[in-house]
Amino acid sequence: MPKKELIGLLGALGFVARLVNGQLEPDCNPLLAECPAKKALQEKNYYVDFTKETGLPENWILANDAVVKFTPEGAEFTYGKRGDAPSMWTDFYMLGGRYDVEMQIAPGQGVISSSVLWSDIQDEIDREFSGNQHGEEPFPPPDGKWLVETNVYAQGRMWDGAATYQKEAYKPTTQFHTYSVEWDEDHMSWLVDNQVVRSVQASNTPSGFLFPQSPMKLQLGVWGGGDPANNYWTIQWAGGEIDMKGAPYTMYVRSVNITNKYPACQYRYKDRVLLTGFKTVAALYR
Ligand SMILES: *[C@@H]1O[C@H](CO)[C@@H](O)[C@H](O)[C@H]1NC(C)=O
Repeated sequence: MPKKELIGLLGALGFVARLVNGQLEPDCNPLLAECPAKKALQEKNYYVDFTKETGLPENWILANDAVVKFTPEGAEFTYGKRGDAPSMWTDFYMLGGRYDVEMQIAPGQGVISSSVLWSDIQDEIDREFSGNQHGEEPFPPPDGKWLVETNVYAQGRMWDGAATYQKEAYKPTTQFHTYSVEWDEDHMSWLVDNQVVRSVQASNTPSGFLFPQSPMKLQLGVWGGGDPANNYWTIQWAGGEIDMKGAPYTMYVRSVNITNKYPACQYRYKDRVLLTGFKTVAALYR
C-alpha cells in the first residue's frame, strides 16, 4: 500500500480502530458529569523494573480479564487467542513530563502493540506498532526503518494521525528499545532511544482543536487489530488478518521510567473544567 494512502487511512480510521480495543471509554468523563478527583503522581520520578516483579506491581491496574505475566523478561502481554487484549495502566495521572518505556513489540501480522497516554476527557498521545508494519511492503523493511503510528487526540477527536518512520535502523520485534514521550504545555515529542522521531509544538495546534492539556495515565497493551471479527478497515489498518498459526505473539516491557514535571496530589475537575490545567500548574511552579 503506498504511504500516502496509508496515512489517509490512519487519519480516517484511527479512532474506529481504537474503539475496537474497548479501552478508550473513561469510567467517568468529567466534561459530561461530576467525577471523583483522580490520584496524581506526587513524586518527581517514578521507576519500575518489571523484570524484578513476580506479580502486578503497586500503582498498576489490570484490564478486566487481562493476563499479564511478570517474568525475568519483563511484563509479558500476549495475543494467544482471538479476543485477547491484555493491557494495564497506571493508577495515577500526570500532567507534563517524560515517559520512557523500554520494550520489545509483539511480532505478527495485524498484531498491535501500544503505549498510550490518555485522559478522562479523551485527550491522547499515542504510539501504536503493528507487528508487520501496518502491511507496508517490503516487510521487514530492508533499511530497518519502521513505520509507526503516532496519534494525538483532543477530547476524543483525532487532530493528527501521522505515520512516522523511525529514523534509525532497528528490529523492534526482536530487540528492546526505549520509547519515550515528552509532553508539556509547549510541545510533545516522541523519541526512540533518546532520538526525537517526531515533535509537535503547541503553537502549531490545528485550528478548532486544543493541545492536549489534561492529566494522563499511561496504558500499555497488545490487541488484535487484525482479528477476523473486526471490520474490514480496521484489519487493513492493522496490516491484515492475524495468522493464528504463528501465535502466541508477545510484547515485553522491561521498565517504565517517568519524570514528572509538576508533581501533585490529585487532579480535580469542577463544573466540567479542570482546576489544575497547565496554566495553573505552570504558575505554581514558576
Ligand atoms: C529515569 O529518567 C531520568 C530522567 O531522564 C534519569 O535521570 C534516570 O536516571 C532514569 N532512571 C533510570 C532508573 O533509568
